[in-house]
Amino acid sequence: MSGACWPQPLITAAQLARRVAALGAACAAQLAAEREPLALIILDGAAVFAADLLRHCPLPQLTVASLRVASYGQGTAPQGVPRVVGELPPLRGRTVLVIDDILDTGLTLACVQRALREAGAARLVTCVLLDKPARRHPAGLARADLVGFTIPPRFVVGYGLDHGGRWRHLPYLGALPA
Ligand code: IMP
Ligand code: MG
Repeated sequence: MSGACWPQPLITAAQLARRVAALGAACAAQLAAEREPLALIILDGAAVFAADLLRHCPLPQLTVASLRVASYGQGTAPQGVPRVVGELPPLRGRTVLVIDDILDTGLTLACVQRALREAGAARLVTCVLLDKPARRHPAGLARADLVGFTIPPRFVVGYGLDHGGRWRHLPYLGALPA
């Protein structure tokens, strides 16, 4: 893959594969003693990451579902208030492994955690591929339980993450020019 138009690699496909395999094993260790754990994939960004992660999480009792979160902007504000879209699967008393692509401001995962607790989830384990701690909002989720890579506050694409719908299919994680 060459050419000036491709994003500059920040984390290679081989680095991703190694770290995601270890994260999958860590997820399995967290959930091994649970009776009916649920892996909940936050779409669309976490789809590629979760597909690889869950294949390294060999628990026969695990079920998998996905959830969409939309951001409703106010006026022309680029980022709005996140809201869970659609129905949640049955959660009462269950342990939920929440899988997202990136913990940025933390507002999305704070909203998801609130919704899951309101729906009766007993225990939440949050796993993100990326963490940008420098970008955290005071009302956002402060930290995830399992983190793949901590990165500087740059806009990144690839391995499921997009910019305007592009670059999700890149096999590596790239940084867009500042
Ligand atoms: P939040 O700011 O933590 O609520 O993150 C909201 C969502 O913004 C994430 O789930 C991603 O889908 C997206 N996002 C945040 N930072 C980036 C980035 O660097 N690249 C691509 N998407 C991002
Ligand atoms: Mg997302």
